[in-house]
Amino acid sequence: MTKLHKAYIGGQWLTGNRGSFEVDDPATGESVAKVADVSLDQVEQAIDAANQAFESWRRLSAQERADGVLAWYDKVRENRQRLAEMITRESGKPIAEALSEVDYGASYLRWFAEQGVRAGGQTLPTLPGGRRPLTLKQPVGVVGVITPWNFPLAMIARKAAPALAAGCTLVIKPAAETPLTALLLAELAEQAGLPAGVINLIPGTDAAAIGKCLCTHSKVRKLSFTGSTAVGRVLMAQSAQKIQRLSLELGGNAPFLVFDDANLEAAVEGLIASKFRNSGQTCVCANRILVQRGIYDSFIARLKTRMASLTLGPGALPGADLGPLISDRAIARVESLVEQALEAGAVQTLGAGRVGEGSRYHSPTLLESVTPENPIWSQEIFGPVVSVTPFDSEEDGITLANHTEAGLASYLFSDSLSRAIRVAESLDYGMVGINEGIISSATAPFGGIKSSGLGREGGQEGMDEYLETKYLCLGGIG
Ligand code: SIN
Repeated sequence: MTKLHKAYIGGQWLTGNRGSFEVDDPATGESVAKVADVSLDQVEQAIDAANQAFESWRRLSAQERADGVLAWYDKVRENRQRLAEMITRESGKPIAEALSEVDYGASYLRWFAEQGVRAGGQTLPTLPGGRRPLTLKQPVGVVGVITPWNFPLAMIARKAAPALAAGCTLVIKPAAETPLTALLLAELAEQAGLPAGVINLIPGTDAAAIGKCLCTHSKVRKLSFTGSTAVGRVLMAQSAQKIQRLSLELGGNAPFLVFDDANLEAAVEGLIASKFRNSGQTCVCANRILVQRGIYDSFIARLKTRMASLTLGPGALPGADLGPLISDRAIARVESLVEQALEAGAVQTLGAGRVGEGSRYHSPTLLESVTPENPIWSQEIFGPVVSVTPFDSEEDGITLANHTEAGLASYLFSDSLSRAIRVAESLDYGMVGINEGIISSATAPFGGIKSSGLGREGGQEGMDEYLETKYLCLGGIG
C-alpha cells in the first residue's frame, strides 16, 4: 500500500486497523485503489495528535500560520493538474470542472491565509468606574471535519483554511467515495511544512461511529460538516450533550425564478451552469425551475436546444459536459425520482434516462408540469434533471420559491432592478444569485437558513466560525 492510500495521523502514514476499502472510478465502476479503513482507536489517536499540536500551533504568530497556509496553497497550485486528474478519477466530474475545483479550493487557502492576519479583537469604550473592556479572538481548538464526495478538494480547503489560519488543528474524515484527493492534499500539506498533528486525515467506512466520536469527544471543540440534512440532524442531536460548536452545510432545494422581463439567453445559460455543474450533484444546483407564464414557451424552447447540445462522457474526455453520477445507488435514486414524478403528473419532454445498461450516466432530462404536490418538488434531485413549474404573478413566484423546508441557494433572473431587489429580499434563503447561476466564492459567506444548516463558510463570517470571542474587563486602571 503506498503512502497516498494510508491514513495520515500525527505526521505518520498508517495502515487502517479495520483493513482497507475500495475506491472506484464512477466512469467504469472499476476499482482504482484500496485505502486504509481507520478504527475508532485511530480516530482517537488522530484527536490526541491534533490536541497536542494545537498547543504549539495556536501560539505561533498569525503571520507564521498564514505563511504555512500559503505554502500549502503554493503546493496545491504546483500540483493543479495532478489534483484535478485525481478528482476526475474518483468523483467522475469532467476534467475542466475538476481544474476549476482546484482553483476554487486553492482560493480559500489564499484568502484565509490573508484574512487570518487581520483576525483581531477590539478595544471598547471605557465603562463606568474607569473599567476598560476589550475582546480577544482565540482559536476554538481541535476541529472535526466531515466532507462530501462532490467537491473532494474544495470542501476540505473551505474548512481547513480558516481553521488553520485561526490557530485550530484538524481531524478530517473525507467521504469514502473520494479519499484519494484528500490524501494527496494531506501529502501536499506535509510537503509544505505544516507541523505533524496540525492536519490529520482519517479515511474510513464506519461513518456513523466516526461522526459520533467527532461530536462527543471531549477534546474536539467544533465539528464542521457538509452533507445531507438527514445526517446533519443526527450530528446535531449527538452534539447536544456537550453543546459542541457546529457548522452545518446541508441540503438545498434551490428555486430558479425566471421572470417575464428576464434576458432569456442569460437565464438559460445561468440555468445550464447552475443545474448541470457536476452533473447536478451540488447542494446549490437549481432544483425547482419557476418560469413566468408570459415567456414560458420561448424559455423552454431555448432550454431544450441548449440541453440537447450537452455532451455526456467520462470526465477525462476533453469536451465532456456531464460525467457519470457518483455511484450505482445515486443513479438508481435519480431514476426512481423521475419515475415517481411522472406517476404524479409531470411530463417528460426531453431525456432518455440512464444511458447504457448498468452505466452511471443519466441523460439531461426535462420534466414539465411539476406541481408542489409532486414528490420531486421536495427532494434535492442531485442529478441532471430539470424540474419546471410555471407561475403567474411575482407574488406567486415568491410563494412557490419559499414553499420548502430548505433555505440554501436561490436564483432569480429579471432585468428590472426594483423587482430583483424586491424578490431577493423576499426569498427565504441564505444566498441569492441575481442574473447569475454560479455564486460560490472564497470572499463571500456561503451557507443556508432553515433546514439547510448553520454557519457560513467563506468571507469574514467563515473565519469567525473558528474563533471564540473572549471579553476582558480591566479594572483598577484609574
Ligand atoms: C456544495 O455543493 O456543497 C458546495 C457547492 C459550492 O461550493 O459551490
